[in-house]
Amino acid sequence: MRMVDIIETKRDGHVLTKEEIDFVIHGYVKGTIPDYQMSAWLMAVYFQGMTDAEAALLTDAMLHSGDVIDLSSIEGVKVDKHSTGGVGDKTTLILGPLVASAGAKLAKLSGRGLGHTGGTLDKLESIPGCTISLSPERFIKQVNEIGIAVAGQTAELVPADKLMYALRDVTGSVPSIPLIASSIMSKKLASGADVICLDVKIGDGAFMKTIEDATRLSRLMVEIGKSFGKSVTAFITDMNQPLGLAVGNRLEVAEAFETLSGRGPADLETLCVEIGAEMVHRAGKAPSVEAAKKLLHDNLHNGKALAKFQQFIRAQGGKLDTLDGFVTAKFIETVKAPKAGYVKTIRALPIGLATMQLGGGRATKDDVIDPNVGIVLAKKIGAPVVKGDVLATLYASAPVTAAIRRAVQEAFEIVKDAVGISPIILGTVR
Ligand code: URA
Repeated sequence: MRMVDIIETKRDGHVLTKEEIDFVIHGYVKGTIPDYQMSAWLMAVYFQGMTDAEAALLTDAMLHSGDVIDLSSIEGVKVDKHSTGGVGDKTTLILGPLVASAGAKLAKLSGRGLGHTGGTLDKLESIPGCTISLSPERFIKQVNEIGIAVAGQTAELVPADKLMYALRDVTGSVPSIPLIASSIMSKKLASGADVICLDVKIGDGAFMKTIEDATRLSRLMVEIGKSFGKSVTAFITDMNQPLGLAVGNRLEVAEAFETLSGRGPADLETLCVEIGAEMVHRAGKAPSVEAAKKLLHDNLHNGKALAKFQQFIRAQGGKLDTLDGFVTAKFIETVKAPKAGYVKTIRALPIGLATMQLGGGRATKDDVIDPNVGIVLAKKIGAPVVKGDVLATLYASAPVTAAIRRAVQEAFEIVKDAVGISPIILGTVR
């Protein structure tokens, strides 16, 4: 078999066989296929697409490029979730303890944040003492004992995706539905859970810009998951503004703490309860999604969800009994409304980039994160504002530059007429 023939087959819009797809992935991981040929093949896939069957074969080849985690020594149904990435997305910190408080078992391997979106691992590590380096034995024991563990993905989990993603990132082939679906699903399938809930974001800074594309991506991922015998649900959710109010590592942990205490922002609580209810029901811990929603609502208000979060953090070496003194930024400044009206959009991308510039995210993978910095929104979409109202508070370790302040102010689009609020969940694919 020759790589050039496989590139030409895809370039001309034909369907690839399992042998051809395996040849590409194994050859690229082994180093016998060079970057320039892989780049050409990825671009051919970008333009010609793939059938659902080809995408499932690609997922299978990628999945078997490294370790496949065996969770069979965890009793019961194992649940997992994945978000396609958003600004202020602290869902795992809430959803994990919340579903565990209802008896589901969450065994999750997470990634780090890069660019304008934050990663769960960085948020966990912003809690003093909390580690995400768990040995496989400790990971499994913890899930068996307390129902939740979150650890960092190792280099051996789907190495094909690490290599391909880095190449896609610099060759313009990231926004391809079959490539995104196989990238996400290979990692989810390698992580070993039985029930997988996917949060597919649409909006500024998200990969998917339209409901049509988000629905196609969701359908493909659900079908791939089913072909591997998994129970998969995809939620299409709004990212036309950051999720919740807080962006930045400790600020987001603090918001998760408040949400688990029943005092969270409405959009964040709704998202966590909706996705969590699906997980709890599919894990067999509630007879219906509605019953699961009630159970989760109750646990947010009766102290069980917060107690599970604190137990989870203690099991991973940290401690967060109170928020007193947790966020300690040296400089706290506000950004104000330049005119009166209603908030129409809060563009997530500039808010994420401003947080990164304050020191709260990474531009390259070796950057060190400042856990205390970030942005807390004072207004969300639909809110009326008068000139001079506070739109957001910035937490910084050095005086905030005029450019950052301006970028945050300009992220808010303020219009004259009242603005309706769209729901956080725009669609569900099962
Ligand atoms: N997230 C992933 O893990 N992979 C992609 O290709 C896009 C988003």
